[in-house]
Amino acid sequence: MSTDDLRHQFWETFGRPAEGCWAAPGRVNLIGEYTDVNEGFVLPFATPMLTRVLAARRPDRVLAVRSLQEKSEDEPRGAQHELALDGGGGHPRGWLAYPLAVARALEASGYQVVGADLLIDSDVPVGAGLSSSAALECSVAMALCALSGLELEPMATALIAQRAENEFVGVPCGIMDQAASMCSQAGHALLLDTRDLQVRQVPFDPEAAALSIVVVDTRVKHGLTGSAYADRRQSCEQAAKALGVRALRDIPLDRTDEALQRLARTGDEVLVKRARHVLSEEARVLEVAAQLGAGDLRSVGPLLFAGHRSLRDDFEVSSVELDAVVEVAGSSGALGARLTGAGFGGSALALIASDRVKGFQRSVVAEFGARGFTPPAFSVTAPSEGARRQW
Ligand code: GLA
Repeated sequence: MSTDDLRHQFWETFGRPAEGCWAAPGRVNLIGEYTDVNEGFVLPFATPMLTRVLAARRPDRVLAVRSLQEKSEDEPRGAQHELALDGGGGHPRGWLAYPLAVARALEASGYQVVGADLLIDSDVPVGAGLSSSAALECSVAMALCALSGLELEPMATALIAQRAENEFVGVPCGIMDQAASMCSQAGHALLLDTRDLQVRQVPFDPEAAALSIVVVDTRVKHGLTGSAYADRRQSCEQAAKALGVRALRDIPLDRTDEALQRLARTGDEVLVKRARHVLSEEARVLEVAAQLGAGDLRSVGPLLFAGHRSLRDDFEVSSVELDAVVEVAGSSGALGARLTGAGFGGSALALIASDRVKGFQRSVVAEFGARGFTPPAFSVTAPSEGARRQW
């Protein structure tokens, strides 16, 4: 929706003008899956898809929120909901849990926030593995901070957003999505060390090399509150414990074979597979970052395919639809392709010559049709700017 339309919607809803508009993007993870929950490296980038929050202060301790994406028969553009900052009204469900969780996380971290009217508009698809939750958390966090006169660094805001999701929504996610939304720069992937939160902007400009990144949303919804994500985290923690380290990150990259042999002696084949994914993925992230740094986009491709195989066979978080996208990408001449995000549905990305994008998309549609899958949704994306105040 255009800025003028949004301003108008805000007036219509709350009877006064908005004080500003804050925007936070979704992300695509180029590589580094489940490494953030092992204190390792990740390499995501922000998408042009955004969640925008128009906001104005209220004199009471209430968040009044409306999302233009919440559709019902009575209110095709979303109803207005009131959430009490001081409790009461129970624990809201669905998307409403997020704005309140952010306010709670800010206050639990010692920041006093004001009540606010919030109008939310987003083109980040929900449940597609593109971090619609982080985009919502980060945009709301920035709006609430600005209205409350709080100045937080981007990474500090990301940590608040993660805390909101971990403690007040109940999803045990890592820091990758929120950090990508807050700290990304256009034309770059974000190399983030999730242990010390140091970031490095790595130039990544596929277009300049006549390449495109195609995101294929399988439209198989994934939700992280389910047990599978927590289960994978737990296996990683068990593997670290069995190896006597705080996190799998502590295994040096030249000692991974030895570590896996030691794990194999526990007789737990599943632990070996989970750890093998994390340890090999950590090496792939650093290698991809090095290739990008050297401007060698073509060498990145095989590492993406290898990452997918590892997620499929060792970490076991792929789906038949995601595997189909990656297979078709291979036969369509893509340099590389892999599932992106937590898996169990959601999206895959392909790095492919721009003049092959149409053919690839046609082949995916044909394959999905032949196998009776839900038709997928495509977007061609590019590393974009991170969260900011728009006006
Ligand atoms: C989700 C989580 C991230 C990360 C990925 C898997 O997106 O929110 O923290 O763990 O899954 O790489």
